[in-house]
Amino acid sequence: VTVRLPRLADYEARAREVMPAALFAELFGTAENSVGISEQNNLAGYRSVKLRPRVLIDVRNRRLGTTVMGRPIGLPVMLAPVGKQRWAHPAGEPATARAAARAGTVMVASTASNASLEDIAAAAGAAWFQLYYLPDRDATLKLVRRAEAAGYCALVVTVDIVAGPVEHRVPDTIVWNAKAVEAPAVHGNFAAGELPSPAKAAWHESGVTWADLEWLRTQTRLPMILKGIQCATDARRCVEIGAAGLMVSNHGGRTVEDAVATVEQLAEVSAEVGGELELYLDGGIRKGVDVLKALALGARAVLIGRPILWGLAAAGEEGVHDLLELLRVEFDTAMAYCGVVDATAVPRDLVKVPADW
Ligand SMILES: Cc1cc2nc3c(=O)[nH]c(=O)nc-3n(C[C@H](O)[C@H](O)[C@H](O)COP(=O)(O)O)c2cc1C
Repeated sequence: VTVRLPRLADYEARAREVMPAALFAELFGTAENSVGISEQNNLAGYRSVKLRPRVLIDVRNRRLGTTVMGRPIGLPVMLAPVGKQRWAHPAGEPATARAAARAGTVMVASTASNASLEDIAAAAGAAWFQLYYLPDRDATLKLVRRAEAAGYCALVVTVDIVAGPVEHRVPDTIVWNAKAVEAPAVHGNFAAGELPSPAKAAWHESGVTWADLEWLRTQTRLPMILKGIQCATDARRCVEIGAAGLMVSNHGGRTVEDAVATVEQLAEVSAEVGGELELYLDGGIRKGVDVLKALALGARAVLIGRPILWGLAAAGEEGVHDLLELLRVEFDTAMAYCGVVDATAVPRDLVKVPADW
């Protein structure tokens, strides 16, 4: 099935059509425990960054690729760790992994995946593993060892989840495109009883601190990237503990209400530690120009979260692949119109940001 919808927003509309309302609400935070303001701030952040295009530059040969942790990718858009992808489509995470590999980019596989990290790695090209630090160090290390053995290239440690959502409220049966499928077990990475409860996962109360991450870094040769950094002070600490990279992220606005847009915080973080470690950004990336703006402000690459689920819901692997190709075309066009030929050298003065950023 090739869908090829014209914009990412159309994939969201398609997902809304094919998914039951309760499931859509659960996945996209439109239930009554919604934390919608931070998500809106993320989206609005890009509209506040204005482009200053340059002209009369030969832009016929544009290079969209970059390297992430030393590996080349064809497009500076990666796939953020998103759990429970089988809720969007029965094919789930392995389908996303194949779509990412075909598009020449990297998927970050979530600890909270429906498929096991081994099954995702088998379907993927180069992939990264997202780790939730569990209350028990041995259980955490066990996940790290499994990720190493499965061939993951980097460890993304998500540090912004410290309290849980209330309760998952998903029906036992999911009607997907008029076909009923059994709601999949939430956690493909854990055996029954390994987590306290299916609704409230162990990482919601892990009490993890900088000292734990400093220790974790000494336990693995995988480069460690901290996901969920939102200010210059914490970015500095990432450098101090020897992180190879950080992701400016507020979990897509799914945690605390009224957080600053991540693209605004990227500007702050980049001014503090730019050049000292690799910077990544997620939250609200929906268009090619958003990617270009993030690169101008110091990101090496960006990640998309919700759009993965929209693509999956629309058409499984093909939907995710089409959506990545759409972003590639948009990003390529934006580069041309702005006089940019190399995605690794987007000048800071390509953008203007509000005076108080
Ligand atoms: C349904 C859903 C599940 C998510 N699961 C995880 C997860 O398991 N681990 C994680 O680090 N982030 C998770 N995230 C956050 C994403 O990695 C990412 O930070 C966020 O979605 C980016 O914002 P965007 O959705 O606006 O692109 C999840 C986000 C959504 C919407």
